Order: sequence, then structure tokens, then C-alpha cells
Amino acid sequence: MKIKYDLKSQNVDAVCTKHRKICTPIPHPDSIKLINELREVESDSMHDQLPLVWDSAKDYQIFDGHGNCFIDLTSTIFVANVGHSHPKVLEAIQKCCQKPLINNYYYPSFERKEFVKRLIEVTPKHLNKAILYSTGAETTEASFKIMRQYGHKINREKITILSFEGSFHGKTTGAQQLGGKTAGKQWIKNLDKNIVHIPFPTQWYMEQSGLSGSELFLRDIKLLEKQGIDLSLIAGIIIEPYQGWGALFYPQDYIDTMVKWAKENNSLITVDEVQSGFGRTGKLFGFEHYNLEPDLVCMGKAISSSLPLSAIIGREELINLDASMNSTHGGNPMACAASLASLNALIDENLIEASAKKGLILEHELKKWQEEFPNLISYISCKGLVAAVFFKKINSTELDIELVDNLIYKAMLKGVNSVRTLSGTIKIGPPLTIPEDALVEAINVYKQCLNELLEETHA
Ligand SMILES: Cc1ncc(COP(=O)(O)O)c(C=O)c1O
Repeated sequence: MKIKYDLKSQNVDAVCTKHRKICTPIPHPDSIKLINELREVESDSMHDQLPLVWDSAKDYQIFDGHGNCFIDLTSTIFVANVGHSHPKVLEAIQKCCQKPLINNYYYPSFERKEFVKRLIEVTPKHLNKAILYSTGAETTEASFKIMRQYGHKINREKITILSFEGSFHGKTTGAQQLGGKTAGKQWIKNLDKNIVHIPFPTQWYMEQSGLSGSELFLRDIKLLEKQGIDLSLIAGIIIEPYQGWGALFYPQDYIDTMVKWAKENNSLITVDEVQSGFGRTGKLFGFEHYNLEPDLVCMGKAISSSLPLSAIIGREELINLDASMNSTHGGNPMACAASLASLNALIDENLIEASAKKGLILEHELKKWQEEFPNLISYISCKGLVAAVFFKKINSTELDIELVDNLIYKAMLKGVNSVRTLSGTIKIGPPLTIPEDALVEAINVYKQCLNELLEETHA
């Protein structure tokens, strides 16, 4: 599988619309020079996304510094929900610079007090305490520790954590083991045998089983028991409201049964909202789509729409279980000030409702596209402003990673920036502020790119 895109500037047709501008070869030759300099000194792992140099970013647009302007369908991988460089977020950061207060370890600060109070105010009442970190993976690691320590207090053997195949909870070693992607784990060797995974209830897995969501959960958990797992020792379950790579949601009856089972078994439920939180799915948090009261919630990315900040929130007795839970940069004052401004903008500018409304337009456009290419587009998933378009190889169920890689590259040449999932899915997650016509325009660029790719392969 090709990981790095070949670097060459291409002469492309000029584009000039209200939302996009392409006026030079792409990537611009200076961008190629910059990327090559970076590639000389950085890991390949930092160079698998599209070769688009970001000079500045504002609202739903990215500028490369050479006159080209791209519609952003990534929100910087689900960070800039209130739009890139939101004026209120910038102002909050600038205020900290002017004081100046740019870091303070976890000594108290006004900025942190204001933000955490507001965060706790907008989340369900029972989630009344927070710990702040800098990255999403730190919060899932923290939930892992808390769930285990909670179980361990009940029974020293109750330390098993249940997760889902295909899930993603971060890239540090604990978070990676919580995640359900098997690739890339071989080197760990002594995988934690007290982390277990069951299949995610995709639509096709459900169809194959012929069971309801509720029956499927009970069957798969029983299968674990048959494999020798003592279910009474499950201390906690970690779920994402949707699995990131495919924007795949759980059936409601599956969640209902899982919640009931967890209650009966005295197991905690962590919801990993690192990607789905802060309006992405048309609700403040993804778990609000389910009838679910999580014990712990992990947040990151769009918490600030900008600087690195993350948080785990939960009931006081859980959050206070481990007195060592803090970190050097967790709760940085600039990140807290930015997060307060971002959260207020999200609510005051009705961006959560906007996400739900624009999501319907997005879904409509994508469904039309699927109707045109039923042999290629096998599945569409969309809720609010997160969507995934699954491309499969003709006469096969295998997802077509190469086709998607080529398609999003072509779209970049026309002024649309995409997430590269390396999974055969186009993942769409623009800032929630994106104008409706820019959203439709970007999807039309994808459609045009697919037509061109098909013409090229038939030529
Ligand atoms: C659901 C989920 N959890 C955790 C993480 C890890 O976050 P970070 O990259 O900030 O460590 C991500 C990042 O993509 C994510 O999508």
C-alpha cells in the first residue's frame, strides 16, 4: 500500500468560485520544497496526509500562502468545529498573551476556573468533575485507569475492559490496546489479556447474524464467556458514539441492552467523545443520540477548536479515585481560554443546530451520488456534519483504498481538502460554520473527480 503521495507540482485548470481559488500549479513548487525539507527530518508517519501546506486557515477555508484557497472538509481532523481561527477564540488567546500568562502547570488560574465551570454546566448533572489533559489519548488512558481502579476496589480481579473491534481510542500503547484495530499491534507481544473486544454491530454484521441489536450484544458477550472470559470481572466498557473510520453508529437496542447489562454487572461505561463531541453529530455530544448516561466521558479535539486541550469528566467519586491524575500541560490557560470561547461560540451561534440541518443537505447529496454509482459506492453514513462514503472494488466487497486516495488527491488539485482515512472511505467533517453552498460545491468537486477518474481508467 502506498503511504506517501509522490511529490510533484501539477499544472491544473484554474478555479475561481466564491469558496475556492486555484491559480498556480498544485502543490505550489515552494510547498514541494518545504515538504521535502520536512520529509528529510521527520518520520514518514507525519507525511501520509495530502501534501497541502497550511499557511493560514479561516472559518471553512485553508490558504497555502501562494494565492490558492481550499474548502476544508476536515476541520483539522475534527478540531475546528466553530471554524478555523474563530475571532472570539483568537481574542481569548491574545488576551492571555497580553497578560502575559501562557502556562502555569496545574497551579490554579482564572482561565481554567471559567472554562471548567462552564464545561460542567453544559454536561449532564451527574458528570460533575473534570481532569484536564492535552490530548485525546491521555483521556482514554485515564478512563482505562479509572475503570480498572473502580473494579479493583470491588474485587481485586475485576479489571477487564470491554471494547469493540474496529474502534480507535488513540495511539499511546494503552489507548492502542483499548482500540480494536488489530493491525500494528503485533510488536506489543504481551498484549493486555484483560482488554477484550467484541465485534462492532455494523449493518452488514447485523444482517449476517439475523439478530436484533439487543440479541447480538447478548450473543457476543456470551461468546466471550465461552472463550474463558469471566464476565463478572468486566470493570468497564469503552465505546465511541460512532466508529471514526466509517462514521458508523450503534443500533439503539444494542446500546440499551449493553447499558442494562453493565448496570447489572456493576461495570462502568466510558464514552469516548474525542471525535464526536462539541456539535459534530448535531448534538453537543454524540452519546445524546442514545438513551445513555455515561459514567465517564473523554473529550478532546473540538473542545477548543484550536489549541491542545482534553478532558475526562465523570462523577466525583470516580474522578477522584487516583490522586496522581494530572499532567504538565493539562489545563494550559491559553487552551482553557480558547476552549471557553469555542464552547460559547458553539452555543451562542447555534452551531449544533446548524450541524444537524446541514447534515441533512450533506446526506441528501451523498445519497444522490450513491444512486448514480451503486456498483462503486457501497454505503453512506451521515449524522450532523460527519459522514463517510464507502467505495468498493467492482464485483467485490473489498473497500477501494487506492480509488479514494486518488479521488481526494484530485479534489485537492481543485481546491478541496480531505481527511485521508487509508480505509477506502471518504470521511467528511467540515467546520460546522461551512456555508451550505460551499458544502454542496465541495461534494460536487468529489463527483467531478470520480467521473474524471472513471474516464481516465476507460481511456
Ligand atoms: C475517538 C478518538 N479517541 C481518541 C483519539 C486520540 O486523540 P489524540 O490524537 O488527541 O490523542 C482520537 C483521535 O483521532 C479519536 O478519534
